Amino acid sequence: MGKTIIISNRLPVQLQISNGDITAIPSVGGLATGMKSVHSGGDSLWIGWSGLTEEEIPKELEPKIDAALAEHGSSKVKLTEKEVDGFYYGFSNRTIWPLFHYFLEYSEFQLDYWNTYKEVNQKFADAILANTEDGDTIWVHDYQLMLVPQMVRKERPDVSIGFFLHIPFPSFEIFRTLPWREELLEGVLGSDLIGFHTYDYERHFLSSVRRLLGLEVSFNDITMGDHVIKVDSFPMGIDYKKFSDAAKIHYNKSKNEQSELQQRLNTHQETDPDAKFILSIDRLDYSKGIAKRLNAFEYFLNKYPQYKEKVRLIILAVPSRSNVPQYQLLKREIDELVGRINGEFSTVSWTPIWYFYRSMPFENLIDLYTSSDIAWLTPLRDGMNLVAKEYIATRTDQTGVLILSEMAGSANEMNESLLVNPNNFEQTADALDEAINMPVEEQKARNSVLQKRLARYNVEKWANDFMTSLKSQKEREAANVSH
Ligand code: ADP
Ligand code: G6P
Repeated sequence: MGKTIIISNRLPVQLQISNGDITAIPSVGGLATGMKSVHSGGDSLWIGWSGLTEEEIPKELEPKIDAALAEHGSSKVKLTEKEVDGFYYGFSNRTIWPLFHYFLEYSEFQLDYWNTYKEVNQKFADAILANTEDGDTIWVHDYQLMLVPQMVRKERPDVSIGFFLHIPFPSFEIFRTLPWREELLEGVLGSDLIGFHTYDYERHFLSSVRRLLGLEVSFNDITMGDHVIKVDSFPMGIDYKKFSDAAKIHYNKSKNEQSELQQRLNTHQETDPDAKFILSIDRLDYSKGIAKRLNAFEYFLNKYPQYKEKVRLIILAVPSRSNVPQYQLLKREIDELVGRINGEFSTVSWTPIWYFYRSMPFENLIDLYTSSDIAWLTPLRDGMNLVAKEYIATRTDQTGVLILSEMAGSANEMNESLLVNPNNFEQTADALDEAINMPVEEQKARNSVLQKRLARYNVEKWANDFMTSLKSQKEREAANVSH
């Protein structure tokens, strides 16, 4: 049996150079955190971009860079600054990302972005081809690399190629606006198996394939000449044990083993045991609905003034794609909203919003998950949203309430949470009120069902299901061809 080659734009770590020293910092985002657990256990090679442009890597540091990545079972694709601009900041994050998240008005259709996207996808495909041996399985990830499957298939029709999209696939009416829509579909169709988080994304994709390419689609099989491609949904899970074990360790820490953040949180809880912490964690991205959440919080404080001085919203926003203008504008908007709401409602002893704009070490994420009575995650659109699953996994005493947007892929599997439409402030404010007053027995009843489900359908099971399905699809195809 051959090896598995994982290919994605992000590697499990991002490299930084300072004073000739190389530091590897863990990548954030669902793709990297999820695949990391799959990668660490197996015989796989992960190919991707190091996070540094060619111009930023001095020649003499190249071997050190390669060695640092090799420690994480990874190998890099070299990208110049110009390529990163056109491919990553350009077509990936100024064209596809907004379009697939239904922000049509943010999506830019620029020919030079598209051309660079094609060139860079070819670079990734070449890197795969240089490392592929007979019997290998290739697993391509996400919207940055949608042309790669076809590019690899052209040269190596014998190998198994899987593609997984970590973001939503939009409805046909949205997708059809893209000038290069047929090319993107054909690129992905180089795969043997195409996976999505939810059945809805799968359905949208099949509809676009049928209507734009006129291909025969039967149930979830697409026929393209003598190549049959299977399309299916595989909702991504988390490394459940990692989160629940970390929470257990967390609870057993003595006072002086606790982080400074934890000690601060404890002090507040000790001073006012009835006060509630509401947690919001996301990359700073317009699809996550952070600004709307802040407006909804203001609405909630006005509708339910009895909670003034009783609730505290902790907003953790992780810096993301800060070269893209929409992200810069959003950062400013959030800074202003936090300032305005705190200015309006704060008292000498109470600040309603604690706002952190940074990435945090894993231990601090656990501190926040375990200390928060409520997790409030209301993206406007989200492929999955793993944070919701991580929060539930850390609630080892089964208390805690999750308020989750209907527009997150994870809502399909998390019906026992309080599901809300993030655009409906009335409903959201009422959900906060319900969460604050939910009896502990009800919290436990809801969470025990969620926990069982998340523990069973964890990230390992997700990856195994995908790989097993890919293997059987390849065997099916081989059997068809030989008949
Ligand atoms: P997305 O992939 O769109 O960023 P997800 O919720 O699916 O959204 O995944 C986010 C991942 O990033 C989670 O695994 C979460 O643990 C991690 N993460 C979120 N916030 C932070 C943070 N401040 N520091 C480190 N990791 C974070
Ligand atoms: C989402 C995408 C990933 C991406 C991550 C972080 O999870 O699906 O492909 O890696 O966001 O974004 P970034 O642009 O920093 O890679």
